[in-house]
Amino acid sequence: MVNETVPKGLNFILSIQNSESKSFASIHQRPLTTVVLAMSADGKISDVGQSNPHFGSKHDYDHLEQQVALADAVLFGSTTLKTGGTAMRVITPERIAERVKNGKPEQPIQIVCTRTGEIDPSLKFFQQPIPRYLLTTPAGAKRWQTQAGFDCVISAQTDQIDLHYGLTELYKSGVKSIAVLGGGEIVAALLEADLIDELHLTVCPILLGGKDAPTPVAGAGFLQGQAPHLELLSVKQVEGELFLHYRVLH
Ligand SMILES: NC(=O)c1ccc[n+]([C@@H]2O[C@H](COP(=O)([O-])OP(=O)(O)OC[C@H]3O[C@@H](n4cnc5c(N)ncnc54)[C@H](OP(=O)(O)O)[C@@H]3O)[C@@H](O)[C@H]2O)c1
Repeated sequence: MVNETVPKGLNFILSIQNSESKSFASIHQRPLTTVVLAMSADGKISDVGQSNPHFGSKHDYDHLEQQVALADAVLFGSTTLKTGGTAMRVITPERIAERVKNGKPEQPIQIVCTRTGEIDPSLKFFQQPIPRYLLTTPAGAKRWQTQAGFDCVISAQTDQIDLHYGLTELYKSGVKSIAVLGGGEIVAALLEADLIDELHLTVCPILLGGKDAPTPVAGAGFLQGQAPHLELLSVKQVEGELFLHYRVLH
């Protein structure tokens, strides 16, 4: 069953959003960032064992691939890479052809965020036919100085990852849109830096529970007065799942 609820005035909102998206990157001098995550009905993005999430349906997988296919780059935290071992790339030939038709490379750039640079070079990720970038600190960059694996290493001269600097450098190299595929730690860091623009959250009909199970936004948390507010752009129901699309009100 497909059931789309279009909030009042959505067409108006979407037309503003589309025109904003076109010029967003050039106005802000950084890529438009969109979080794409599947979560349980109780708001967990993995189980308490941090296993690679498999609770989304084929519709959710298709939605995820679509968002990846639309982006110039995909960004994720090192724990997400360690859990899955591979990057989410575009597989469907029509989507690859559409990218090429639009003047884009077949695959978006895959950007790993790590402060330490501690990533196992034997991960299957390093054999995938994809462009790989590392967003890290000088210490993390040093680890990969003599080790092949990344096509580009971005690091500011700071102990912590400078996300503003990283996104500005990516923008300068032609990245206008980024799909942020989690996990909660990197989403929280980007939100704290006011660097998230949109979210696609799929609510899946399963309860995972567990106070330590990862959620879409980890980090220290926001007090209500400082919490980012969202505008609901669309809600789509496909069988038992809800596909929510939000915009962050900056
Ligand atoms: N359901 C879904 O759609 C979905 C999607 C993605 C992930 N997941 C699940 O989410 C879990 C992982 O999420 P997570 O929140 O634990 O980890 P995460 O956000 O994937 O990665 C966190 C790691 O990123 C690095 N990092 C780089 N810059 C950072 C910064 N500014 N702030 C914080 N960390 C930074 C740190 O690792 P270093 O030590 O390397 O510096 C940190 O430990 C896994 O279980 C995964 O399967 C679910």
